Amino acid sequence: MQPLRLGFIGLGYITVNAHLPALAPLAKSGQVVFTAFCDAQEDTARSQAAEYGVNGVYTDHRAMFEQEALDAVYLCIPPTLHTDQLTLAAERKLAVFVEKPQTLDLAQAVACTTALDRAGVVSQVGFMSRYYPSAVAVRRRLSERTPRHALVQLLYGGRPVRYWTSRYELCGGTFVENTIHMVDLLRYFLGDIAAVSAFYVPRTEPDGEHGWNLPHVYNVNYRFVSGATANVTTSRVLTQAGGSRRQVTLVSDDSLIEWESNKASENGELVWQDEAPANPFALQAQEFVAAAQAGDRGRPRSPYAESLNSLAAVLGANASAEQGGKLIQLADLVAGKR
Ligand SMILES: NC(=O)c1ccc[n+]([C@@H]2O[C@H](COP(=O)([O-])OP(=O)(O)OC[C@H]3O[C@@H](n4cnc5c(N)ncnc54)[C@H](O)[C@@H]3O)[C@@H](O)[C@H]2O)c1
Repeated sequence: MQPLRLGFIGLGYITVNAHLPALAPLAKSGQVVFTAFCDAQEDTARSQAAEYGVNGVYTDHRAMFEQEALDAVYLCIPPTLHTDQLTLAAERKLAVFVEKPQTLDLAQAVACTTALDRAGVVSQVGFMSRYYPSAVAVRRRLSERTPRHALVQLLYGGRPVRYWTSRYELCGGTFVENTIHMVDLLRYFLGDIAAVSAFYVPRTEPDGEHGWNLPHVYNVNYRFVSGATANVTTSRVLTQAGGSRRQVTLVSDDSLIEWESNKASENGELVWQDEAPANPFALQAQEFVAAAQAGDRGRPRSPYAESLNSLAAVLGANASAEQGGKLIQLADLVAGKR
């Protein structure tokens, strides 16, 4: 089989630290070839191209698409900077991997869904938590239970380190930028989300060198299509305490499951433990490459269209909090009503 020719748009933190290392063994074995790197910062694109022996270096994705023969593209740039990258990739019938959150503009996400579906291309959003073996084990177990509710607590420590992740208008806040992973994981466990109501504790004074303006606390309630409910609480107030917490609890009739990235317990008994540390980015990359090579749109665990509900769920939380906790139906939000 011919190697999959990959182009990258955005050679920042996640590409350099997660995706390229995850794909490197596949490049070594000849399954993929790193064909072209595009970053708005030419030095960034050039230095990574030198590292990975890539000839095609670009600062504009349109030039990359026009000049390179590609089979697939990774889009890993901040969500407010998405323009026509995905629709152009779809027109060229490229398989697309796009980092979460897909965009902060649901109308744009709907347009991208249409373009990708019309083109019939393979797509995957970077919800890599679905690739933890422990997540697969919990999903299997829950399919034999009657889930009633879920609780997620994400109490972050420290401060955001980059300008765009410090600003609500650029990243959508911590709930959108970070908690989206756990919201998507809840969907992997419990199915689609129908409605949301949220209260946030706003940060009234900009803080720190980046003028940090993200809410202190996000309290979000979800109702699933199945009728189950969830409460997801996120905060960013433990800046100096040196501690943090991530708890995911799923409660079914006579079953209390605690999920962690490498293990899971039910009613206090360990029911899953990884034998060796799993790298969800590597597993996600293998699945995306295999799906793109086979043209199998059903193979990735989080295709673009399937992931729209996760995006709507976090943007819906923001919309609700901005309107005093108003109950938001996600179908209305996707249709353009707030
Ligand atoms: N899955 C995860 O756990 C995870 C972790 C971190 C980030 N992310 C996501 O990955 C995406 C990128 O985040 P990051 O941390 O790598 O950001 P970053 O700021 O480190 O890097 C972004 C890069 O994109 C480049 N860029 C910006 N606009 C561009 C454009 N129009 N064309 C080409 N290059 C452009 C920038 O120059 C920069 O090098 C975001 O959506 C973020 O939410 C996911």
